[in-house]
Amino acid sequence: LKVLSVASEAVPLVKTGGLADVVGALPAALAGEGVEMTTLIPGYPQVIEALDKPRRVSVFDSLLGEPARVLSAKFHDGRKLLVLDAPAYFARFGGPYGDAAGVDYGDNWRRFAALGLAAARLAGVDGKQRFDLVHAHDWQAAMACVYLRFGGRPVPSVLTIHNMAFQGYFGGEVFARLGLPDAAWTMDGVEFHGGVGMLKGGMVCADAITTVSPTYAREIHTARFGMGLDGVVRARTHLVEGILNGIDKAEWNPAADPHLAAPYNAGHLGNRKANKRAVEKAFDLDKDDGPLFVVISRLTWQKGIDVLLEVIDHLVGLGGRLALLGSGEPGLEQGLTEAAERHPGRVGLRFAYDEPLSHLMQGGGDAILVPSRFEPCGLTQLYGLAYGCVPVVARTGGLADTVIDANPAAVAEGGATGIVFSEATYDEFSLAITRAIRLYGDKAEWRRLQRSGMRADFGWGASAHAYADLYRRLLGRNR
Ligand code: ADP
Ligand code: GLC
Repeated sequence: LKVLSVASEAVPLVKTGGLADVVGALPAALAGEGVEMTTLIPGYPQVIEALDKPRRVSVFDSLLGEPARVLSAKFHDGRKLLVLDAPAYFARFGGPYGDAAGVDYGDNWRRFAALGLAAARLAGVDGKQRFDLVHAHDWQAAMACVYLRFGGRPVPSVLTIHNMAFQGYFGGEVFARLGLPDAAWTMDGVEFHGGVGMLKGGMVCADAITTVSPTYAREIHTARFGMGLDGVVRARTHLVEGILNGIDKAEWNPAADPHLAAPYNAGHLGNRKANKRAVEKAFDLDKDDGPLFVVISRLTWQKGIDVLLEVIDHLVGLGGRLALLGSGEPGLEQGLTEAAERHPGRVGLRFAYDEPLSHLMQGGGDAILVPSRFEPCGLTQLYGLAYGCVPVVARTGGLADTVIDANPAAVAEGGATGIVFSEATYDEFSLAITRAIRLYGDKAEWRRLQRSGMRADFGWGASAHAYADLYRRLLGRNR
């Protein structure tokens, strides 16, 4: 079974968030299910540079008006990678979506429509069918489903929504330049409130829609989480399914992590102390054995960083320390800087993207805070579980599906893995921090919490099986 997975980022070549981790891990995860997955990503400069002996496999004289070619190379783990080499669209030295200042490129509609069109052509719209199915991720790849649907549906498509907040919505005037028939300018195509909705188009054209956790699949049926697309979700509810993300255990294993000062496993949690010392040093924090909280996050409203700002004084007042790694909205960075100035030695910040440091923080922090307002899946709490860095999370999306609250019943039964609070408000979050600090004071209890988290299985096994099963169902139905 040959699947073309299409996305705008993939580890280890280009990453701005969890999407890249998931897209990068899927091929290996699915290989065990008899699925041969090839991944198509855009040829950003750092991607093209990293390719080892690329071969040219297709040439498009005009992909929405610009020449492009498709290069084939091997992924880090030996799996197949296709790269859309279209300099007019992707040879830019900012980020994947915007310039160095963070301003979105004005032609993103065309850049990512081109990605979708290339995928549809490779999959069979051009006549030559090279894959059995296309799996598109987020709005940047969603147009693949649209071009397949209006290109005669040579193969079925699956659309995975990693985050409903990003929809790829553009002015109606771009429609004429997408090379689609008039029939696509309707409810059953990309038209959405007078504009072009790329995620919306993908949702109505895909043969199945998945989200990255079961709870998020339910949540997006509601106005609160559907971000304007909940009506589309409800209309297509029979096609919607939640499949939880896994983690790549080769990358995230505390017993063999090159980024840790000291490796450890559930039987030797004492070794975490050396990592804690290293985190304190990296963040210029006081050295002590009190609770060390960590945050590894984009600094945005989604992630509840404004609520984190409100609880910092409370956290420090109870004897806690905080190490935060992230970058994002300038206003939030400013607020965090002020908090660090108020609490020297207690609050340490790093406004950067630093993969090795993120591993060290999971290995040395006592608890990871994830106060998200919504969270389609969330990976940092999963890494926290695997590393004995106890997650303190809001009960939403994938956070609700993966962390078991240390309420008295769960503790008595030995199943608790973290602290779950009802929503990202000052009252709920500060209470959760109080609970965490109290639990931390009971060493035996805390160890139990760490160990049950480390025992929990968040590998790809079950989820890879669920994707393979979905592909097979679709192929059975479509041919
Ligand atoms: P999202 O994709 O919404 O940002 P996830 O929790 O799914 O949230 O994934 C975030 C990913 O990015 C994780 O792998 C996390 O470790 C990583 N990450 C986030 N911020 C940073 C940072 N500043 N430095 C290093 N890694 C980061
Ligand atoms: C998105 C979501 C996050 C999810 C990730 C990978 O970035 O915000 O919750 O874990 O995609 O699916």
